[in-house]
Amino acid sequence: MNFDKIVSREETHTEKYDKRIEKFGTEDVIPLWVADMDFPSSQAIQDALISRIKHPIYGYTDYYDAYFDSIKRWMQKAHDWEIQREWITPINAIVTGLNLAVEVLTKRGDGVIIQPPIYPPFYSAVKNQKRILLENELKIIDGRYEIDFEDFENKAKDAKLFVFCSPHNPTGKVFSKDNLEKLAYICKQNGVIIISDEVHADLVYENNHIPIATLDDAKDITITLNAPSKTFNVAGIVSAYAIIQNSSLKKQYHEIFQRYSLVQPTPISLCTTVAAYTQSDEWLDALLIYLKANLKYIKNRLVKMPKIKPMDIESTFLLWLNCKELHLDDKSLEAFFIKDAKLGLNTGISFGRGGEGFMRLNFAVPRSILEKAMNQIEEAYTKRVF
Ligand SMILES: Cc1ncc(COP(=O)(O)O)c(C=O)c1O
Repeated sequence: MNFDKIVSREETHTEKYDKRIEKFGTEDVIPLWVADMDFPSSQAIQDALISRIKHPIYGYTDYYDAYFDSIKRWMQKAHDWEIQREWITPINAIVTGLNLAVEVLTKRGDGVIIQPPIYPPFYSAVKNQKRILLENELKIIDGRYEIDFEDFENKAKDAKLFVFCSPHNPTGKVFSKDNLEKLAYICKQNGVIIISDEVHADLVYENNHIPIATLDDAKDITITLNAPSKTFNVAGIVSAYAIIQNSSLKKQYHEIFQRYSLVQPTPISLCTTVAAYTQSDEWLDALLIYLKANLKYIKNRLVKMPKIKPMDIESTFLLWLNCKELHLDDKSLEAFFIKDAKLGLNTGISFGRGGEGFMRLNFAVPRSILEKAMNQIEEAYTKRVF
């Protein structure tokens, strides 16, 4: 496992590189935006894919025991959660899962809670379907993001669904047991269903991720969504699943996937999941060490640029940078990163309320790329003499 090695992605029609003109108006930026990694997947995943692809018939494929067993194994190993096979509903992608949860569990005009600043599809899942957006904004208190529970409780009275992001993208927050218990209790009291997107659950540096569905108050009202996509850098394979303990909720949710014919696996999605969840433990251990060192490296470099403040993220490979002290409006902040620093980051405002004055930097890249990126920021920062 050599995460320092640069593997070119230029030939692979990858969003991160090929959409630079569309996104930043130029190809002359180091792309540190869309949330996948510039690292090869584990050898076990590569081998599993090659072996399947070598068989030349790619017809309709069915789920098999090893697929379900691998998810069970992973939940037990990584999250100390003993799940049953009957609780698993394969879905194709998490964002599809969010949209269909809103569609099937709420009606037009129903309230849905989200916690901005938040991954943009959380907004669109609610807005596109004309549900009422209830924004329980996370607040920075003593440098850390915290939940405003009074506001959450008030909003829960008008809500049918809570679309939860745990760990949270883009703030990197890992929710404590106490946080989760309060959220679950309020949701249960108010008849609010929880859809918990836990796709970043395996990439945690501080604290432990606790699946909210393991709590007594949440287990019957929660749909947990997860996938090997972020953890093992296989997002392009498109393979995710839901875990639902309440059998009638599971039936209701599964039916909408069937209705849209979204339960068909691809030959490669299943073998990827199995290889990720049963043979890639060491790769992940090494990855986490590398990512943590990358994070430390950026923080050290940013000491010299005190007006760009990295938030204390506890998870994800996405660093949330507080740039408010640069005193730039959001357009100028974006232009500073693209034109002066020649870096392609996500703007904070694209994550909605509370994202003003922030930028999000994807640090899942080889260290030499990060060094170049940090040199470019430092040069731009120094030139501007903020
Ligand atoms: C919180 C969160 N959910 C979902 C996704 C995307 O999942 P999928 O590609 O399975 O739709 C992302 C990708 O960045 C994410 O950050």
